[in-house]
Amino acid sequence: MKQTVTSSQVETKDLIPSFVKNEALISWVTSVHELCQPDRVHWCDGSDEEYKRLCQEMVAAGTLIPLNQQKRPNSFLARSDATDVARVEDRTFICSQRKQDAGPTNNWANPVEMKANLKELFKGSMRGRTMYVIPFSMGPLGSPYSHIGVEISDSPYVVVNMKIMTRMGRKALDVLANGFFVPCLHSVGAPLERGQKDVAWPCNPEKKYIVHFPEERSIWSYGSGYGGNALLGKKCFALRIASVLGRDQDWLAEHMLILGAESPTGEKTYVAAAFPSACGKTNFAMIVPPKGFDGWKITTVGDDIAWIKPGADGKLYAINPEAGYFGVAPGTSPESNPNAIATVASNTIFTNVALTPDGDVWWEDLTHEAPAQLIDWQGKPWTPDCGRKASHPNARFTAPASQCPSVDANWDNPKGVPISALIFGGRRASTVPLVYQSFNWNFGVYLAATIGSEMTAAAGGTIGQVRRDPMAMLPFCGYNMGDYFNHWLQMGRSIANPPRIFSVNWFRKDENGKYMWPGFGENMRVLKWIIDRVHGRAFAEESPLGWMPRYQDLEWKGSDFKKESFYKLMKVDREQWKAEVLSQEELFEKLYDKLPKEFFLMRELLLSGLWRSPKNWGLAEERYLENSN
Ligand code: OXD
Ligand code: MN
Repeated sequence: MKQTVTSSQVETKDLIPSFVKNEALISWVTSVHELCQPDRVHWCDGSDEEYKRLCQEMVAAGTLIPLNQQKRPNSFLARSDATDVARVEDRTFICSQRKQDAGPTNNWANPVEMKANLKELFKGSMRGRTMYVIPFSMGPLGSPYSHIGVEISDSPYVVVNMKIMTRMGRKALDVLANGFFVPCLHSVGAPLERGQKDVAWPCNPEKKYIVHFPEERSIWSYGSGYGGNALLGKKCFALRIASVLGRDQDWLAEHMLILGAESPTGEKTYVAAAFPSACGKTNFAMIVPPKGFDGWKITTVGDDIAWIKPGADGKLYAINPEAGYFGVAPGTSPESNPNAIATVASNTIFTNVALTPDGDVWWEDLTHEAPAQLIDWQGKPWTPDCGRKASHPNARFTAPASQCPSVDANWDNPKGVPISALIFGGRRASTVPLVYQSFNWNFGVYLAATIGSEMTAAAGGTIGQVRRDPMAMLPFCGYNMGDYFNHWLQMGRSIANPPRIFSVNWFRKDENGKYMWPGFGENMRVLKWIIDRVHGRAFAEESPLGWMPRYQDLEWKGSDFKKESFYKLMKVDREQWKAEVLSQEELFEKLYDKLPKEFFLMRELLLSGLWRSPKNWGLAEERYLENSN
């Protein structure tokens, strides 16, 4: 079946293959074709042959570098333009009809004006290029939890990444039939005039727009070819547009990993966890239990996004809408995440990592010692003493989930997995203890709404500065954050068996600025307490913030972590918390008109709890050790 159309003056019958029956899709593709004026059109079937052919074409064009077949079979390296290396939050817009529906935490622009502006930009934007029509399913094909999108893009890099990250191609189109889909329009914004030579990474260095029209449920992305700006199934659809769908249809689209924990007795517990970007979500999703946890098995359902819906039994069930990992490479090592290292052993696209002389990849921390010579992410010769990083800090791997050694047996289950606990964690150097359980759902929503984290590359702020990142969704919530908090509270009212809610902080530092908790595999000790709590087995003491474990409530087999260090990590310092609660005001004030009234009451309860307790609750000498024999 011929799927490539080669003239921009095509008739509709040539533009739309006979197997496409969806009227809305036919009319959208026709109008985009007319607007963007591509030289060619290709309907993606999602086959391995198509993937192979596009990779070969990109190798010929210099966009992909094939890696050593023996060391890294069927894998490629892409180097992006140096101005196109991360999500661009300041160029991301939620264009709801009313400004208040986007809320003060989103960039808003008038949708009519924005659409007119975008139409101008997209006019002829695909000249000289191929327009790819990419049907995809977010979530297992045909699952009641899943939704279909169609991305139109002029980037073959997007096509091959979408093949890994989603269920892409003809099968998704078959599931769509005449149903609803989210139209996702993408152009790198670099039309080629006649005879103009292309570059390896086309993009528009001046103009970037990542735009969402929530009422229309559509996405228009212009000017960037990178990650979440261009792979529109991920942040744009599965979080920003899906959060709006969730609000309207009583479910949650969250920035959460999903993992399964199987105990030595075979008991299986699933948890979902939200961490802001660059807090080690992929590592936690693939955690390897440390010494002392013989017989425990951790399995991975997802590493970034969870779609969570109430089941008939009153529990929440979650799917991972994605089919692959778009993980941050630097910092990933055989020690920090052996499962991720095994996942990227083959069939992987690397972006902005360094190239070794023997045609393999390298990034900071992959090995203890850097290779003597590399080609860095910008294609320049690199040596360990050159003073530059070899890979970009936001360098990525795109790899199929099915290749992960820890992949969960149910990762592709259309019914999803039952969630027993929701975990929220920020990157906080002080104040926030290692772990505590919220008193109830409402307090859990409050704690989740107030988590904070240090700035990341994508956030575009001062690295290290703390920003409030409610539910780790600040850059990803497609509507007013105050309405989103109310939606969370409403979910709690409507489910009979809600998951328990926990706070964790792997990143607390001591007075010398050193991390107090070893993290990585050791986080399993905290996870086990959480699992024991949800099954009603573990002891916890009431603290001003919620329920907390004593030292002896965690499993310490195989660890020499000191009791004193644990209590230091668990300390709830009244003065610090006073400052914390005051600084939460900044966010609350911003959202004042929509903030749930429950939050004001919970803040008062939190403060009165802090005053009712010793001023350094949790410190050994004040209270805690007395209670722990
Ligand atoms: C991501 C992010 O890329 O959260 O997953 O920034
Ligand atoms: Mn993420």
